[in-house]
Amino acid sequence: MAKGGIVAGCLAPHPPHLVYAENPEQNEPVSEGGWEQLRWGYERLRDSLKDVDYDVIVILSPHWQTYVGTHFIGVEKCSSKSVDPVFPNLFRFNYDLSIDVELAKAIHDQAESEGMSVKMMTNPDFRVDYGTIVSCHMVRPEWDKPIVSISSNRSLSYYSVEVMQEMMIELGKSTAKAIEESGKKCLLIASNSLSHRHFVTETNPPEDMSKEHITSHAMHLWDMRMIEMMREGKSQQIINEMPEFCEQAIAETDGGALTWLLSAMGVPNEPAILHGYGTIIGTGNAIMEWPCRNWGA
Ligand SMILES: [Fe+2]
Repeated sequence: MAKGGIVAGCLAPHPPHLVYAENPEQNEPVSEGGWEQLRWGYERLRDSLKDVDYDVIVILSPHWQTYVGTHFIGVEKCSSKSVDPVFPNLFRFNYDLSIDVELAKAIHDQAESEGMSVKMMTNPDFRVDYGTIVSCHMVRPEWDKPIVSISSNRSLSYYSVEVMQEMMIELGKSTAKAIEESGKKCLLIASNSLSHRHFVTETNPPEDMSKEHITSHAMHLWDMRMIEMMREGKSQQIINEMPEFCEQAIAETDGGALTWLLSAMGVPNEPAILHGYGTIIGTGNAIMEWPCRNWGA
């Protein structure tokens, strides 16, 4: 069997506003648009991936939070309504998706053999988190690929960013090894914003773009610093600066997704492509792609 591999790694943020603004048939609320800078960014990402052949999307979302180990969805079909607990006015999304349980179990087993605390989630009534749904929808709205859904083990809450990073680096290595042995071609997604200090009141209508901007200059500087490092291939430096970034920018990288992604790609020195940047309720969001398929063996 040929070796599996990662065709691309993506940073794909998940504020529900993006799906709300797109007005797909699965979402109940109706909008007049908004957040176009980011939605055009997703368009560019989709265009970049349109001729890329892959079997499965592997995604880690900060909104499936587990406190004892990392969990993987182990149910082949998931279908229900996802309602954002903070923005039920924007996101009530009917989803129907397939899970690649075989690959999920392979990553689970590999991580377990490395001594990590892991668990397969087998509750057939489990509701998939909205972070996973929004990022997958924006990257591939056709919903024609199975996914592997990985939880965010909140080791940061119990310990520190340093502990979270060590665990996510290990999980990334296990993910890469299991993918290689599976023979499958995978698209990896870290589902998170960058700076994450947000407004506490909503405008009317929510898509009023005259009110949308970053919450502070400090948040802007942090976002630009992270984007520049990604564009320059400075993955190790991103990991090194992660504790300060998570603390000072209240960054959503605290869920471990970006560290997991960088580790799975082998902490690349190759540059990432910036497809778009924009703010949503004041948070900073970048759509980035690491085109691993072009890097050679
Ligand atoms: Fe979030």
